[in-house]
Amino acid sequence: ISSYQVIPDFISPEEEQFIIAEVDPHFQRLPYEFNHWDDAIVGFRETEVSRWSSNCAPILERLKTRAFSTKKKILIFTHILDLAENGHIKPHVDSIRFSGNTIAGLSLNSAAVMRLVSESDTNQVVDILLPPRSLYIMKDRSRYNYTHEVLANEYSKFGDMPVPKTRRISIICRNEPL
Ligand code: OGA
Ligand code: MN
Repeated sequence: ISSYQVIPDFISPEEEQFIIAEVDPHFQRLPYEFNHWDDAIVGFRETEVSRWSSNCAPILERLKTRAFSTKKKILIFTHILDLAENGHIKPHVDSIRFSGNTIAGLSLNSAAVMRLVSESDTNQVVDILLPPRSLYIMKDRSRYNYTHEVLANEYSKFGDMPVPKTRRISIICRNEPL
């Protein structure tokens, strides 16, 4: 699907470690949440970051330049999601009240499989391999007309290839709704 793009190795292993070191302290005393039945995400903790150290700020700038057509409308707070090894994200479409046409996500520490399913034709399924250090850019049709999900470890396959998912941290930038 042309409105969804994956850029492998968008950051180096060193940059990955910088970001993990910076977000990890936010999670230190937070338990993973497993039991909110109405949550789209199972086995997660999350935080938001608006100010980055000098190690990380240039990486975030590079991400925003690559993913967004204009810097002016990017939300100040970057969403940081820590998905436990036994966590997963159920199919959902991000609320159109809280974010605009572009969602950019950097995957850290573990590979995962993201699945897109067309809302108008659920036979239309696209699996996407997200290696660690890759950036995905989901905009327009893939953002509005498809649900997205991150498969649980037991279903985490790309074609026939198992994709073991361990703890995965994602750095997600969104823009303002229209
Ligand atoms: C979300 C989401 C995907 C990811 O938080 O809404 O879909 O890459 N996250 O973690
Ligand atoms: Mn989402």
